[in-house]
Amino acid sequence: IDGRIEALGKPDEWLKDRMECLLCFENVTGLLVNGSGLIHGHGEAWWDSVSHSHRPRTVRFNGVINMVYNGLTQKNSPKNHISVHNCTNATLSNLHLIAPGDSPNTDGIDVSLSNGLQILNSSIETGDDCIAINSGSRNISIARVACGPGHGISIGSLGRDGANETVENVKVWNCSFNGTQNGARIKTWAGGLGFARNILFENITLIDADNPIVIDQHYCNGGHDCDHDKKTAVGVSNVTFRYFEGTCTGETAIKLDCDKKTRCRKIVMDHINITSSPSSSERNLNSYCRFADVVSRFVSVDLSCLDSEDCLPPAPY
Ligand SMILES: *[C@@H]1O[C@H](CO)[C@@H](O)[C@H](O)[C@H]1NC(C)=O
Ligand SMILES: *[C@@H]1O[C@H](CO)[C@@H](O)[C@H](O)[C@H]1NC(C)=O
Ligand SMILES: *[C@@H]1O[C@H](CO)[C@@H](O)[C@H](O)[C@H]1NC(C)=O
Ligand SMILES: *[C@@H]1O[C@H](CO)[C@@H](O)[C@H](O)[C@H]1NC(C)=O
Ligand SMILES: *[C@@H]1O[C@H](CO)[C@@H](O)[C@H](O)[C@H]1NC(C)=O
Ligand SMILES: *[C@@H]1O[C@H](CO)[C@@H](O)[C@H](O)[C@H]1NC(C)=O
Ligand SMILES: *[C@@H]1O[C@H](CO)[C@@H](O)[C@H](O)[C@H]1NC(C)=O
Ligand SMILES: *[C@@H]1O[C@H](CO)[C@@H](O)[C@H](O)[C@H]1NC(C)=O
Ligand SMILES: *[C@@H]1O[C@H](CO)[C@@H](O)[C@H](O)[C@H]1NC(C)=O
Ligand SMILES: *[C@@H]1O[C@H](CO)[C@@H](O)[C@H](O)[C@H]1NC(C)=O
Ligand SMILES: *[C@@H]1O[C@H](CO)[C@@H](O)[C@H](O)[C@H]1NC(C)=O
Ligand SMILES: *[C@@H]1O[C@H](CO)[C@@H](O)[C@H](O)[C@H]1NC(C)=O
Repeated sequence: IDGRIEALGKPDEWLKDRMECLLCFENVTGLLVNGSGLIHGHGEAWWDSVSHSHRPRTVRFNGVINMVYNGLTQKNSPKNHISVHNCTNATLSNLHLIAPGDSPNTDGIDVSLSNGLQILNSSIETGDDCIAINSGSRNISIARVACGPGHGISIGSLGRDGANETVENVKVWNCSFNGTQNGARIKTWAGGLGFARNILFENITLIDADNPIVIDQHYCNGGHDCDHDKKTAVGVSNVTFRYFEGTCTGETAIKLDCDKKTRCRKIVMDHINITSSPSSSERNLNSYCRFADVVSRFVSVDLSCLDSEDCLPPAPY
């Protein structure tokens, strides 16, 4: 694909068919999509007028095995730019995904139920998550991806409405977060089952990231299901954050808000050097850590992990 593919930008016509994607690839084995072209989703015609659940993503890969998606630029998706669902052995590389920082729900790449995915050498400037790794995903590598603006790279959310959801073996390295709301984040709902485990974030550059490192085992969004005292939580274990360097615009550089009973286990913080960004008048950075088993070495902010509920976590992001 070398030229342009442009969506009509006419939601009313599109909604008659309720298609969930503008370009849909389904049940293909051995798929190569390559080129230097542009796929323009004209999401600007949708964002203000159609609710998120009725908007299509621009590109979806569903049930695809052995695939490469390389080189393209995508602009202004109505919803997330790319969905990778139920795929095995896929490489997404040299992509440029672009939408305004304030465009609603325009995630870069959403992954679910997939095994063996690499996302490499790409830049993602959008209005929501740069990459979100959702339930049923394993063996995921993300390298040399520049994120921002947007909400950073997140695992989850997992375990909403009591669901049993799992993500494992995720490595994110040599990535940057520039002007993002979060950086490296894991979010799970109270009351869920399953796990997020064996996760590594390494060699991460931060440029004015608001909340660079977050594990939230009490995630709740928009007031839905925010009761912390549910009987279960999604397990979070063997998570390493190593060689983080750069600046933060928020006050809380590290937030680990874990469940009292399930806890976050085997968390490693190694060589984390986060300083306050000059643009936010260089305040003192702090951390919040509750019910987490953390081994830390060379961390620039004071990281005291307590087993008490004496004070409330910082406001949700
Ligand atoms: C893809 O495969 C699934 C599972 O076999 C099937 O339900 C679905 O209809 C297939 N999709 C298409 C477009 O053939
Ligand atoms: C994509 O196309 C370019 C230009 O033709 C070529 O150099 C490159 O090797 C191709 N990449 C893949 C993964 O096929
Ligand atoms: C996933 O994709 C495979 C291969 O295309 C298909 O056989 C299977 O039914 C799909 N599973 C689900 C849950 O959609
Ligand atoms: C994974 O997909 C790539 C690209 O289609 C292919 O070259 C490679 O052989 C596949 N690997 C396996 C283990 O099937
Ligand atoms: C990604 O970039 C690295 C370093 O520049 C390069 O070695 C590698 O071949 C690239 N991979 C792809 C799939 O473009
Ligand atoms: C992927 O992850 C599973 C465990 O979730 C593991 O058994 C498997 O060997 C891994 N690798 C591949 C290529 O599937
Ligand atoms: C990651 O970046 C470091 C430092 O720039 C470099 O030494 C290393 O080779 C990179 N790793 C990969 C896999 O690109
Ligand atoms: C970070 O993003 C800003 C705004 O888009 C840009 O001006 C700046 O060059 C970027 N910084 C780096 C190091 O990429
Ligand atoms: C949750 O799902 C995982 C993986 O599918 C399974 O091993 C585990 O037993 C399930 N847990 C419960 C409590 O059902
Ligand atoms: C912990 O996670 C790392 C990836 O960060 C993985 O290489 C390692 O095998 C995991 N350890 C265990 C005991 O599963
Ligand atoms: C991280 O960067 C260091 C050099 O700064 C390099 O030695 C190491 O291989 C990098 N890690 C990865 C996973 O690329
Ligand atoms: C941490 O980063 C600051 C700002 O970039 C730098 O001045 C300082 O030397 C770094 N500290 C370490 C221990 O690397």
